[in-house]
Amino acid sequence: MNMSNSLTAVVLAAGAGTRMRSRRSKVLHELAGRPLLHYPVLAALQAGAAQVVVVASPGNERAIRDCLSRLTDLSDQARRCDVAIQAQPRGTGDAAKAALPHVAHDQVLILNGDIPLVRGEDLLQLTNAFEAATSAPLALMSCELTEPAGYGRILRQAGRVVGVREEKDLESDAQRAIREVNAGIYLANRDFLSAALGALTSDNAQGEYYVTDIVERAAREATALGVFGTPEVMQGVNDRAQLATMEALLYQRIADGHRRAGVTIQVGALIDDTVRIGGNATVRANASLRGDTVIGNDVLIEQGVVIDDSVIGDGAVIKPYCVIVQSRVGQGAQVGPFAHMRPESELGDDARIGNFVEMKKSVLKKGAKANHLTYLGDTEVGENANVGAGTIVCNYDGFSKQRTVIGKGAFIGSDSQLIAPVRIGDGAYVGTGTTVTRDVPEQALALSRPQQIIKEDYAPKLRERLQAAARARKAGGRS
Ligand code: UD1
Ligand code: CA
Repeated sequence: MNMSNSLTAVVLAAGAGTRMRSRRSKVLHELAGRPLLHYPVLAALQAGAAQVVVVASPGNERAIRDCLSRLTDLSDQARRCDVAIQAQPRGTGDAAKAALPHVAHDQVLILNGDIPLVRGEDLLQLTNAFEAATSAPLALMSCELTEPAGYGRILRQAGRVVGVREEKDLESDAQRAIREVNAGIYLANRDFLSAALGALTSDNAQGEYYVTDIVERAAREATALGVFGTPEVMQGVNDRAQLATMEALLYQRIADGHRRAGVTIQVGALIDDTVRIGGNATVRANASLRGDTVIGNDVLIEQGVVIDDSVIGDGAVIKPYCVIVQSRVGQGAQVGPFAHMRPESELGDDARIGNFVEMKKSVLKKGAKANHLTYLGDTEVGENANVGAGTIVCNYDGFSKQRTVIGKGAFIGSDSQLIAPVRIGDGAYVGTGTTVTRDVPEQALALSRPQQIIKEDYAPKLRERLQAAARARKAGGRS
Protein backbone atom coordinates (compact mmCIF):
# COMPACT_ATOMS: atom_id res chain seq x y z
CA MET A 1 0.00 0.00 0.00
CA ASN A 2 1.21 3.48 -0.79
CA MET A 3 0.85 5.62 2.31
CA SER A 4 1.41 8.85 0.51
CA ASN A 5 -1.95 8.76 -1.27
CA SER A 6 -4.06 6.99 1.31
CA LEU A 7 -3.62 9.02 4.47
CA THR A 8 -5.63 11.94 5.79
CA ALA A 9 -4.36 13.73 8.88
CA VAL A 10 -6.89 15.41 11.16
CA VAL A 11 -5.45 18.09 13.45
CA LEU A 12 -7.62 19.15 16.39
CA ALA A 13 -7.46 22.90 16.92
CA ALA A 14 -10.93 23.93 18.11
CA GLY A 15 -10.42 23.66 21.86
CA ALA A 16 -11.14 26.54 24.22
CA GLY A 17 -7.56 26.50 25.51
CA THR A 18 -8.70 27.77 28.92
CA ARG A 19 -5.39 26.99 30.63
CA MET A 20 -3.55 29.46 28.36
CA ARG A 21 -5.61 32.33 29.85
CA SER A 22 -5.51 33.99 26.48
CA ARG A 23 -7.93 35.60 24.08
CA ARG A 24 -5.92 34.02 21.31
CA SER A 25 -6.52 30.39 20.51
CA LYS A 26 -3.88 28.09 22.03
CA VAL A 27 -2.68 26.65 18.73
CA LEU A 28 -2.04 30.17 17.39
CA HIS A 29 0.48 31.06 20.08
CA GLU A 30 3.95 31.27 18.57
CA LEU A 31 7.03 29.32 19.40
CA ALA A 32 10.34 29.48 17.56
CA GLY A 33 8.78 31.66 14.89
CA ARG A 34 5.74 29.61 14.00
CA PRO A 35 2.26 29.26 15.43
CA LEU A 36 1.96 26.02 17.40
CA LEU A 37 -0.43 24.59 14.79
CA HIS A 38 2.21 24.64 12.03
CA TYR A 39 4.29 21.98 13.76
CA PRO A 40 1.82 19.06 13.79
CA VAL A 41 0.59 20.03 10.31
CA LEU A 42 4.15 20.00 8.93
CA ALA A 43 4.91 16.73 10.70
CA ALA A 44 1.81 15.13 9.14
CA LEU A 45 2.83 16.34 5.68
CA GLN A 46 6.36 15.04 6.22
CA ALA A 47 4.93 11.68 7.21
CA GLY A 48 3.19 11.51 3.85
CA ALA A 49 -0.34 12.72 4.58
CA ALA A 50 -2.05 13.43 1.27
CA GLN A 51 -4.61 15.67 2.96
CA VAL A 52 -4.72 17.58 6.24
CA VAL A 53 -8.03 18.55 7.83
CA VAL A 54 -7.68 21.12 10.59
CA VAL A 55 -10.63 21.29 12.98
CA ALA A 56 -11.33 24.90 13.94
CA SER A 57 -14.03 26.57 16.03
CA PRO A 58 -16.42 29.23 14.71
CA GLY A 59 -14.43 31.72 16.82
CA ASN A 60 -10.96 30.90 15.54
CA GLU A 61 -11.76 29.78 11.98
CA ARG A 62 -10.54 32.97 10.32
CA ALA A 63 -7.33 33.07 12.32
CA ILE A 64 -6.72 29.37 11.60
CA ARG A 65 -7.18 29.94 7.87
CA ASP A 66 -4.74 32.88 8.01
CA CYS A 67 -2.29 30.75 9.93
CA LEU A 68 -2.52 27.97 7.33
CA SER A 69 -2.07 30.42 4.46
CA ARG A 70 1.16 31.57 6.09
CA LEU A 71 2.25 27.96 5.90
CA THR A 72 1.21 27.75 2.26
CA ASP A 73 3.52 30.65 1.49
CA LEU A 74 6.41 28.63 2.81
CA SER A 75 5.52 25.14 1.70
CA ASP A 76 3.77 24.05 -1.44
CA GLN A 77 2.52 20.93 0.29
CA ALA A 78 0.37 22.94 2.67
CA ARG A 79 -2.07 23.58 -0.17
CA ARG A 80 -3.59 20.28 0.86
CA CYS A 81 -5.08 21.74 4.07
CA ASP A 82 -8.84 21.82 4.59
CA VAL A 83 -10.69 23.34 7.54
CA ALA A 84 -13.60 21.65 9.34
CA ILE A 85 -15.67 23.41 11.99
CA GLN A 86 -16.59 22.03 15.39
CA ALA A 87 -19.67 24.04 16.43
CA GLN A 88 -18.98 23.84 20.18
CA PRO A 89 -15.96 22.68 22.17
CA ARG A 90 -17.53 19.45 23.36
CA GLY A 91 -14.30 17.50 23.53
CA THR A 92 -11.66 15.91 21.34
CA GLY A 93 -13.99 13.11 20.18
CA ASP A 94 -16.57 15.61 18.98
CA ALA A 95 -13.81 17.58 17.22
CA ALA A 96 -12.58 14.48 15.39
CA LYS A 97 -16.14 13.71 14.38
CA ALA A 98 -16.51 17.16 12.83
CA ALA A 99 -13.62 16.33 10.52
CA LEU A 100 -15.10 13.09 9.17
CA PRO A 101 -17.16 14.56 6.29
CA HIS A 102 -13.93 16.12 4.92
CA VAL A 103 -11.78 12.99 5.15
CA ALA A 104 -10.81 11.80 1.67
CA HIS A 105 -8.69 8.75 2.47
CA ASP A 106 -9.09 5.36 4.13
CA GLN A 107 -6.54 5.85 6.85
CA VAL A 108 -6.93 8.69 9.29
CA LEU A 109 -4.19 10.07 11.49
CA ILE A 110 -5.60 12.17 14.34
CA LEU A 111 -3.28 14.62 16.05
CA ASN A 112 -3.82 17.03 18.90
CA GLY A 113 -3.04 20.51 17.62
CA ASP A 114 -0.94 21.31 20.69
CA ILE A 115 2.06 18.99 20.23
CA PRO A 116 4.82 21.16 18.75
CA LEU A 117 7.72 18.74 19.05
CA VAL A 118 6.25 15.89 17.04
CA ARG A 119 8.21 15.18 13.84
CA GLY A 120 7.42 13.37 10.61
CA GLU A 121 9.70 10.55 11.69
CA ASP A 122 7.70 10.02 14.89
CA LEU A 123 4.48 9.72 12.92
CA LEU A 124 6.13 7.31 10.49
CA GLN A 125 6.88 5.07 13.46
CA LEU A 126 3.13 4.88 14.02
CA THR A 127 2.14 4.42 10.36
CA ASN A 128 4.76 1.67 9.89
CA ALA A 129 3.64 -0.23 12.99
CA PHE A 130 0.01 0.10 11.93
CA GLU A 131 0.71 -1.28 8.48
CA ALA A 132 2.63 -4.21 9.93
CA ALA A 133 -0.19 -5.16 12.33
CA THR A 134 -3.01 -6.14 10.01
CA SER A 135 -5.60 -6.96 12.67
CA ALA A 136 -5.67 -3.61 14.50
CA PRO A 137 -8.25 -1.03 13.42
CA LEU A 138 -6.44 1.54 15.56
CA ALA A 139 -2.96 2.41 16.79
CA LEU A 140 -1.94 5.14 19.21
CA MET A 141 1.30 6.64 20.46
CA SER A 142 2.28 6.66 24.09
CA CYS A 143 5.37 7.28 26.18
CA GLU A 144 6.58 6.97 29.75
CA LEU A 145 6.83 10.25 31.64
CA THR A 146 8.33 10.70 35.10
CA GLU A 147 5.58 13.26 35.75
CA PRO A 148 2.45 11.92 34.06
CA ALA A 149 0.05 14.30 35.82
CA GLY A 150 -2.37 15.99 33.43
CA TYR A 151 -2.16 13.33 30.74
CA GLY A 152 -4.50 10.46 29.99
CA ARG A 153 -3.02 7.18 31.29
CA ILE A 154 -2.70 4.06 29.17
CA LEU A 155 -4.50 1.11 30.74
CA ARG A 156 -3.01 -2.29 29.92
CA GLN A 157 -4.05 -5.83 30.75
CA ALA A 158 -1.57 -8.63 30.23
CA GLY A 159 0.56 -6.13 28.36
CA ARG A 160 -2.18 -5.21 25.87
CA VAL A 161 -3.65 -1.72 25.66
CA VAL A 162 -7.26 -1.82 26.84
CA GLY A 163 -8.09 1.85 27.18
CA VAL A 164 -7.09 5.41 28.05
CA ARG A 165 -8.21 7.03 31.30
CA GLU A 166 -8.18 10.83 31.62
CA GLU A 167 -6.53 12.36 34.69
CA LYS A 168 -9.87 13.55 36.07
CA ASP A 169 -11.44 10.11 35.64
CA LEU A 170 -8.68 8.12 37.37
CA GLU A 171 -10.18 5.77 39.90
CA SER A 172 -7.34 4.66 42.14
CA ASP A 173 -3.83 5.47 43.28
CA ALA A 174 -2.68 2.50 41.26
CA GLN A 175 -4.08 4.18 38.13
CA ARG A 176 -2.59 7.52 39.13
CA ALA A 177 0.79 5.82 39.42
CA ILE A 178 0.72 4.71 35.78
CA ARG A 179 3.47 6.54 34.00
CA GLU A 180 2.60 5.53 30.47
CA VAL A 181 0.61 8.40 28.98
CA ASN A 182 -1.42 9.00 25.84
CA ALA A 183 0.34 11.34 23.40
CA GLY A 184 -2.78 12.46 21.52
CA ILE A 185 -1.68 10.80 18.25
CA TYR A 186 -3.91 8.10 16.76
CA LEU A 187 -4.13 6.24 13.47
CA ALA A 188 -7.30 4.39 12.48
CA ASN A 189 -9.20 2.96 9.56
CA ARG A 190 -11.89 5.35 8.45
CA ASP A 191 -14.76 2.87 8.78
CA PHE A 192 -13.79 1.93 12.32
CA LEU A 193 -13.39 5.60 13.17
CA SER A 194 -16.82 6.71 11.95
CA ALA A 195 -18.49 3.91 13.87
CA ALA A 196 -16.46 4.57 17.04
CA LEU A 197 -16.87 8.36 16.98
CA GLY A 198 -20.57 7.97 16.24
CA ALA A 199 -21.01 5.88 19.39
CA LEU A 200 -19.19 8.19 21.84
CA THR A 201 -20.94 9.37 24.97
CA SER A 202 -20.00 12.18 27.34
CA ASP A 203 -20.42 10.07 30.44
CA ASN A 204 -17.23 11.18 32.25
CA ALA A 205 -15.87 13.67 34.78
CA GLN A 206 -15.69 16.53 32.27
CA GLY A 207 -18.96 15.79 30.45
CA GLU A 208 -17.03 15.80 27.17
CA TYR A 209 -16.78 13.50 24.18
CA TYR A 210 -13.31 11.97 24.49
CA VAL A 211 -11.56 10.77 21.36
CA THR A 212 -9.65 8.46 23.70
CA ASP A 213 -12.75 6.31 24.19
CA ILE A 214 -12.24 4.84 20.71
CA VAL A 215 -9.19 3.04 22.11
CA GLU A 216 -11.28 0.89 24.41
CA ARG A 217 -13.64 0.02 21.57
CA ALA A 218 -10.76 -1.04 19.32
CA ALA A 219 -9.36 -3.20 22.11
CA ARG A 220 -12.74 -4.79 22.68
CA GLU A 221 -13.43 -5.48 19.01
CA ALA A 222 -9.92 -6.46 17.99
CA THR A 223 -6.64 -4.80 19.01
CA ALA A 224 -5.56 -1.31 19.99
CA LEU A 225 -1.93 -1.16 19.03
CA GLY A 226 0.26 0.88 21.37
CA VAL A 227 3.41 2.40 19.86
CA PHE A 228 6.02 3.94 22.15
CA GLY A 229 7.31 7.33 21.04
CA THR A 230 10.19 9.50 22.29
CA PRO A 231 8.94 11.01 25.58
CA GLU A 232 10.29 14.53 25.02
CA VAL A 233 8.58 14.75 21.64
CA MET A 234 5.19 13.54 22.82
CA GLN A 235 4.61 16.42 25.26
CA GLY A 236 1.64 18.73 24.80
CA VAL A 237 1.21 22.42 25.55
CA ASN A 238 -1.63 23.37 27.86
CA ASP A 239 -0.35 26.56 29.49
CA ARG A 240 2.25 29.23 28.81
CA ALA A 241 4.84 27.64 31.06
CA GLN A 242 4.73 24.47 28.95
CA LEU A 243 4.83 26.66 25.83
CA ALA A 244 8.11 28.18 27.02
CA THR A 245 9.58 24.77 27.85
CA MET A 246 8.66 23.42 24.40
CA GLU A 247 10.05 26.52 22.72
CA ALA A 248 13.39 26.09 24.46
CA LEU A 249 13.53 22.48 23.26
CA LEU A 250 12.59 23.55 19.73
CA TYR A 251 15.29 26.23 19.65
CA GLN A 252 17.82 23.66 20.74
CA ARG A 253 16.67 21.21 18.06
CA ILE A 254 16.78 23.88 15.33
CA ALA A 255 20.26 25.06 16.37
CA ASP A 256 21.56 21.48 16.48
CA GLY A 257 20.19 20.90 12.98
CA HIS A 258 22.18 23.88 11.67
CA ARG A 259 25.26 22.81 13.63
CA ARG A 260 25.20 19.38 12.02
CA ALA A 261 24.89 21.09 8.64
CA GLY A 262 28.11 23.02 9.29
CA VAL A 263 27.07 26.25 10.99
CA THR A 264 28.72 27.37 14.23
CA ILE A 265 26.04 28.48 16.66
CA GLN A 266 26.84 29.61 20.16
CA VAL A 267 24.56 28.60 22.99
CA GLY A 268 21.92 31.27 23.52
CA ALA A 269 21.36 32.22 19.87
CA LEU A 270 17.67 31.95 18.95
CA ILE A 271 17.02 30.79 15.40
CA ASP A 272 13.44 30.48 14.22
CA ASP A 273 12.26 27.38 12.41
CA THR A 274 11.67 29.47 9.29
CA VAL A 275 15.27 30.70 8.89
CA ARG A 276 17.82 29.26 6.41
CA ILE A 277 21.58 29.50 7.01
CA GLY A 278 24.43 28.78 4.60
CA GLY A 279 27.50 26.67 5.23
CA ASN A 280 30.26 27.74 7.56
CA ALA A 281 28.36 30.71 8.94
CA THR A 282 28.78 31.70 12.61
CA VAL A 283 26.00 32.92 14.87
CA ARG A 284 27.05 34.15 18.30
CA ALA A 285 25.19 34.20 21.60
CA ASN A 286 21.98 36.17 21.96
CA ALA A 287 21.61 36.77 18.25
CA SER A 288 18.01 36.34 17.18
CA LEU A 289 17.24 35.28 13.60
CA ARG A 290 13.57 35.47 12.76
CA GLY A 291 10.93 35.14 10.10
CA ASP A 292 11.70 34.61 6.45
CA THR A 293 15.42 35.23 6.84
CA VAL A 294 18.16 33.74 4.66
CA ILE A 295 21.79 33.90 5.82
CA GLY A 296 24.49 33.20 3.20
CA ASN A 297 27.67 31.13 3.42
CA ASP A 298 30.55 32.25 5.66
CA VAL A 299 28.51 35.02 7.26
CA LEU A 300 29.40 36.18 10.77
CA ILE A 301 26.47 37.25 12.94
CA GLU A 302 27.84 38.75 16.12
CA GLN A 303 26.39 38.84 19.59
CA GLY A 304 23.00 40.43 20.20
CA VAL A 305 22.08 40.97 16.54
CA VAL A 306 18.37 40.82 15.62
CA ILE A 307 17.50 39.97 12.01
CA ASP A 308 13.91 39.70 10.79
CA ASP A 309 12.70 38.82 7.26
CA SER A 310 16.02 39.73 5.66
CA VAL A 311 18.63 38.33 3.30
CA ILE A 312 22.32 38.44 4.23
CA GLY A 313 24.84 37.78 1.42
CA ASP A 314 27.83 35.44 1.55
CA GLY A 315 30.73 36.56 3.68
CA ALA A 316 28.93 39.55 5.21
CA VAL A 317 29.75 40.55 8.79
CA ILE A 318 27.02 41.79 11.09
CA LYS A 319 28.71 43.25 14.15
CA PRO A 320 27.22 43.26 17.66
CA TYR A 321 23.78 44.64 18.46
CA CYS A 322 22.50 45.49 14.99
CA VAL A 323 18.81 45.37 14.09
CA ILE A 324 17.98 44.45 10.48
CA VAL A 325 14.35 44.24 9.37
CA GLN A 326 13.01 43.42 5.87
CA SER A 327 16.30 44.41 4.30
CA ARG A 328 19.10 42.98 2.16
CA VAL A 329 22.82 42.94 2.85
CA GLY A 330 25.17 42.21 -0.06
CA GLN A 331 28.15 39.85 -0.20
CA GLY A 332 31.08 40.90 1.92
CA ALA A 333 29.22 43.90 3.31
CA GLN A 334 29.76 45.03 6.91
CA VAL A 335 27.15 46.34 9.30
CA GLY A 336 27.49 47.88 12.73
CA PRO A 337 28.08 47.59 15.58
CA PHE A 338 24.80 49.20 16.69
CA ALA A 339 23.39 49.85 13.23
CA HIS A 340 19.73 49.80 12.30
CA MET A 341 18.44 48.79 8.88
CA ARG A 342 14.72 49.49 8.77
CA PRO A 343 12.41 47.99 6.15
CA GLU A 344 13.32 48.13 2.46
CA SER A 345 16.95 48.97 2.97
CA GLU A 346 19.76 47.46 0.99
CA LEU A 347 23.53 47.32 1.20
CA GLY A 348 25.36 46.42 -2.01
CA ASP A 349 28.31 44.05 -2.10
CA ASP A 350 31.21 45.25 0.05
CA ALA A 351 29.24 48.27 1.26
CA ARG A 352 29.59 49.29 4.91
CA ILE A 353 27.58 51.02 7.56
CA GLY A 354 29.15 51.61 10.96
CA ASN A 355 28.03 52.44 14.46
CA PHE A 356 24.83 54.39 15.03
CA VAL A 357 23.87 54.46 11.38
CA GLU A 358 20.16 54.19 10.64
CA MET A 359 18.77 53.40 7.20
CA LYS A 360 15.14 53.42 6.08
CA LYS A 361 14.04 52.61 2.50
CA SER A 362 17.57 53.39 1.43
CA VAL A 363 20.23 51.80 -0.71
CA LEU A 364 23.99 51.95 -0.36
CA LYS A 365 25.35 50.57 -3.60
CA LYS A 366 28.47 48.46 -4.06
CA GLY A 367 31.42 49.67 -2.02
CA ALA A 368 29.65 52.73 -0.60
CA LYS A 369 30.26 53.65 3.05
CA ALA A 370 28.54 55.47 5.89
CA ASN A 371 30.69 54.63 8.84
CA HIS A 372 29.48 56.78 11.72
CA LEU A 373 26.35 58.35 13.23
CA THR A 374 24.25 58.85 10.14
CA TYR A 375 20.58 58.82 9.13
CA LEU A 376 19.71 57.81 5.59
CA GLY A 377 15.99 57.92 4.80
CA ASP A 378 14.57 57.41 1.28
CA THR A 379 18.09 57.76 -0.04
CA GLU A 380 20.12 56.15 -2.78
CA VAL A 381 23.89 56.25 -2.33
CA GLY A 382 25.90 55.48 -5.48
CA GLU A 383 28.79 53.05 -5.79
CA ASN A 384 31.86 53.85 -3.72
CA ALA A 385 30.39 57.08 -2.37
CA ASN A 386 31.45 58.08 1.15
CA VAL A 387 28.99 59.56 3.62
CA GLY A 388 30.81 61.27 6.48
CA ALA A 389 30.14 61.14 10.21
CA GLY A 390 26.96 62.76 11.47
CA THR A 391 25.35 63.21 8.06
CA ILE A 392 21.58 63.52 8.26
CA VAL A 393 19.22 63.17 5.34
CA CYS A 394 16.24 65.37 6.15
CA ASN A 395 13.67 63.32 4.25
CA TYR A 396 10.53 64.37 6.10
CA ASP A 397 9.05 67.84 6.43
CA GLY A 398 6.34 66.77 8.81
CA PHE A 399 3.92 66.06 5.96
CA SER A 400 5.60 64.10 3.21
CA LYS A 401 8.77 62.15 2.54
CA GLN A 402 11.13 63.01 -0.30
CA ARG A 403 13.96 61.19 -2.00
CA THR A 404 17.64 61.98 -2.01
CA VAL A 405 20.15 60.64 -4.52
CA ILE A 406 23.90 60.66 -3.97
CA GLY A 407 25.95 59.89 -7.09
CA LYS A 408 28.78 57.43 -7.65
CA GLY A 409 31.99 58.25 -5.85
CA ALA A 410 30.54 61.39 -4.24
CA PHE A 411 31.94 62.57 -0.90
CA ILE A 412 29.65 63.95 1.77
CA GLY A 413 31.62 65.79 4.45
CA SER A 414 30.89 65.16 8.11
CA ASP A 415 27.97 66.85 9.83
CA SER A 416 26.19 67.73 6.61
CA GLN A 417 22.44 67.86 6.17
CA LEU A 418 20.85 66.96 2.88
CA ILE A 419 17.39 68.51 2.66
CA ALA A 420 15.28 66.30 0.44
CA PRO A 421 14.48 66.21 -2.36
CA VAL A 422 18.04 66.78 -3.50
CA ARG A 423 20.53 65.16 -5.90
CA ILE A 424 24.28 65.08 -5.44
CA GLY A 425 25.99 64.40 -8.77
CA ASP A 426 28.60 61.71 -9.40
CA GLY A 427 31.98 62.59 -7.96
CA ALA A 428 30.66 65.76 -6.28
CA TYR A 429 32.18 66.93 -2.99
CA VAL A 430 30.06 68.34 -0.19
CA GLY A 431 32.19 70.21 2.33
CA THR A 432 31.98 69.47 6.02
CA GLY A 433 29.02 71.04 7.79
CA THR A 434 27.15 71.94 4.63
CA THR A 435 23.38 72.24 4.53
CA VAL A 436 22.51 71.08 1.04
CA THR A 437 19.27 72.63 -0.17
CA ARG A 438 19.81 72.56 -3.94
CA ASP A 439 21.09 69.90 -6.35
CA VAL A 440 24.88 69.65 -6.60
CA PRO A 441 26.16 69.01 -10.15
CA GLU A 442 28.66 66.24 -11.00
CA GLN A 443 32.19 66.90 -9.81
CA ALA A 444 31.13 70.21 -8.13
CA LEU A 445 32.04 71.39 -4.64
CA ALA A 446 29.17 72.49 -2.40
CA LEU A 447 29.84 74.60 0.70
CA SER A 448 27.45 76.50 2.94
CA ARG A 449 29.84 77.22 5.74
CA PRO A 450 29.79 80.73 7.36
CA GLN A 451 33.13 82.56 7.39
CA GLN A 452 35.21 81.85 10.47
CA ILE A 453 35.96 84.81 12.75
CA ILE A 454 39.11 85.09 14.92
CA LYS A 455 39.39 87.62 17.79
CA GLU A 456 42.90 87.52 19.20
CA ASP A 457 43.21 87.25 23.04
CA TYR A 458 39.48 87.45 23.40
CA ALA A 459 38.91 84.23 25.44
CA PRO A 460 39.89 85.67 28.90
CA LYS A 461 37.69 88.71 28.29
CA LEU A 462 34.79 86.53 27.37
CA ARG A 463 35.22 84.42 30.53
CA GLU A 464 35.32 87.53 32.72
CA ARG A 465 32.15 88.87 31.16
CA LEU A 466 30.29 85.61 31.55
CA GLN A 467 31.45 85.19 35.15
CA ALA A 468 30.26 88.70 36.07
CA ALA A 469 26.90 88.04 34.51
CA ALA A 470 26.54 84.80 36.48
CA ARG A 471 27.42 86.57 39.75
CA ALA A 472 24.88 89.31 39.08
CA ARG A 473 22.18 86.72 38.44
CA LYS A 474 22.97 84.92 41.71
CA ALA A 475 22.90 88.15 43.73
CA GLY A 476 19.58 89.12 42.15
CA GLY A 477 18.16 85.71 43.10
CA ARG A 478 19.07 86.13 46.80
CA SER A 479 17.39 89.50 47.40
C1 UD1 B 1 -5.63 15.06 25.52
C2 UD1 B 1 -6.06 13.60 25.74
C3 UD1 B 1 -5.13 12.97 26.76
C4 UD1 B 1 -3.69 13.06 26.31
C5 UD1 B 1 -3.32 14.51 25.98
C6 UD1 B 1 -1.98 14.51 25.28
C7 UD1 B 1 -8.47 13.56 25.38
C8 UD1 B 1 -9.80 13.43 26.02
N1 UD1 B 1 -7.42 13.57 26.20
O1 UD1 B 1 -5.84 15.73 26.75
O2 UD1 B 1 -5.47 11.61 26.94
O3 UD1 B 1 -2.83 12.54 27.28
O4 UD1 B 1 -4.27 15.11 25.09
O5 UD1 B 1 -1.46 15.81 25.12
O6 UD1 B 1 -8.38 13.63 24.18
N2 UD1 B 1 -9.80 20.23 21.04
C9 UD1 B 1 -10.78 20.50 20.10
N3 UD1 B 1 -12.08 20.54 20.51
C10 UD1 B 1 -12.45 20.29 21.79
C11 UD1 B 1 -11.44 20.01 22.74
C12 UD1 B 1 -10.12 19.98 22.33
O7 UD1 B 1 -10.49 20.74 18.93
O8 UD1 B 1 -13.67 20.34 22.07
C13 UD1 B 1 -8.38 20.22 20.59
C14 UD1 B 1 -7.54 21.26 21.33
O9 UD1 B 1 -7.49 22.47 20.62
C15 UD1 B 1 -6.17 20.58 21.42
C16 UD1 B 1 -6.48 19.11 21.36
O10 UD1 B 1 -7.82 18.98 20.91
O11 UD1 B 1 -5.36 20.93 20.32
C17 UD1 B 1 -6.31 18.44 22.73
O12 UD1 B 1 -7.17 19.06 23.65
P1 UD1 B 1 -6.73 19.31 25.15
O13 UD1 B 1 -7.88 19.96 25.84
O14 UD1 B 1 -5.44 19.99 25.21
O15 UD1 B 1 -6.60 17.81 25.65
P2 UD1 B 1 -5.78 17.34 26.92
O16 UD1 B 1 -6.53 17.68 28.14
O17 UD1 B 1 -4.38 17.79 26.84
CA1 CA C 1 -3.30 19.17 25.53
